[in-house]
Amino acid sequence: MLLLAGVIDQTSLTPREQLGLRLFFDSSLSEPAGIACASCHDPRRAFTGNNNTMIGVALGSRSDQFGTRDAPTIMYLATSPRFGTVERNGKRVPAGGHFWDGRADTLEEQARQPFFNPVEMNNADPSALIAKVAKAEYADAFRKAWGESIFSNPESALDAVVASIAAFERTSVFQPFTSKFDHVLRGQAKFTEREQRGLSSFTLPQKGNCAHCHSVDVASRSPQKSLFTDFSFRALGLPRSTRIPKNADPAFVDLGLCERVPVAGVTLPVTAAKPAVTDPATCGFFKTPTLRNITLTAPYMHNGFFDNLRDAVAFYATRDTDPARWFPGGKKFDDLPARYHANVDVDTPPYQRRAQQRPQLTNEEIDDIVEFLYTLTDGYQPKSK
Ligand code: HEC
Ligand code: HEC
Repeated sequence: MLLLAGVIDQTSLTPREQLGLRLFFDSSLSEPAGIACASCHDPRRAFTGNNNTMIGVALGSRSDQFGTRDAPTIMYLATSPRFGTVERNGKRVPAGGHFWDGRADTLEEQARQPFFNPVEMNNADPSALIAKVAKAEYADAFRKAWGESIFSNPESALDAVVASIAAFERTSVFQPFTSKFDHVLRGQAKFTEREQRGLSSFTLPQKGNCAHCHSVDVASRSPQKSLFTDFSFRALGLPRSTRIPKNADPAFVDLGLCERVPVAGVTLPVTAAKPAVTDPATCGFFKTPTLRNITLTAPYMHNGFFDNLRDAVAFYATRDTDPARWFPGGKKFDDLPARYHANVDVDTPPYQRRAQQRPQLTNEEIDDIVEFLYTLTDGYQPKSK
């Protein structure tokens, strides 16, 4: 069964990209059958969706099998760098890779994981998955694109599956650059006064300073320079989400980057055991996501804590000035063991304020930023003159 593939214009796709699309929407590739990549990455929600849960994290192919993270948008990843470091303000900071913890370097490596993740598509091994692909209605097209004998070796067939998906993910379907923001950059639309004020608060270091991590280049007419992320990793000290079933166990914490296990060439990386902490100074770090299409992608943050975009923005302004608003009893950073609290960013504006100080953003400035964020939704139709 193909879910939702109809909402995408397929006419400009190459045969391999089209195969990627068909694999992406094929809900017979899970164990048991029923969910596809598109179940958690729905094109109508900028490729997010969590398989329709309301608890901030995704449900897998088996009932009651929930993951521990929110499915991020998978748009605007075509130029995402491999995991490494970038220089910010004279310091090297970790950046790049896919997933909230950067554990896959390429879209191909990334696509190998959900098929075998027990809380996602749950296939036992490549043979089990490839047997399903070989029975799909696009199996002939697959042979045509990848060779008559492609299904005889499950490992090579898996390489072809993930290469097709990655090719599809690199098409303009996933990076259309058709938001109002993009039209304004190209001189084809104008911001309202409110949106313009929001953009200023978004970029100004003494206001939101959002662009410090969610990069923009408004001086360039090329929207590719404004991906609204520098792919860097930071610890924001988010509140613990009581909606995540696994969080019922107080011993369970999602430490992010420091538990990252690189997966190059590995087919079945997902193990039940938690990996060891590598660099403790990066515990609590998660990847900065793009803010393009952010109004379509609720809930927000790696743990899906915020259902509402305004709350996510307000958190930046008042995390430190009014911690009781976000942390029960005012106990800050309650989703991280105390020994890692020093990793939380308390220097980068707007995070340098202290309790009882005035927040760096007024309520009106928060509203302006949210208004500006609405201009990042693709599919904007400029008014004809
Ligand atoms: C059950 C829900 C679910 C399914 C099914 C699923 N994903 Fe995801 N996806 C997620 C979650 C949750 C994350 C974040 C996981 C993490 O960071 O550890 C994610 C992350 C990703 C990312 C990384 C985005 C980034 O930040 O770089 C990509 C790309 C992606 N998925 C593509 C796919 C593809 C391709 C498939 C099908 C083969 C798929 N997903 C199937 C839930 C799902
Ligand atoms: C120091 C770097 C940094 C700054 C400054 C920053 N962000 Fe973020 N932002 C991040 C990181 C890292 C995440 C992901 C955190 C996580 O999930 O643990 C994030 C996540 C978000 C999200 C949720 C995205 C999603 O897909 O779930 C929103 C919305 C957001 N930021 C908006 C803003 C706004 C608005 C500002 C300015 C007021 C801002 N950010 C300033 C680093 C930053």
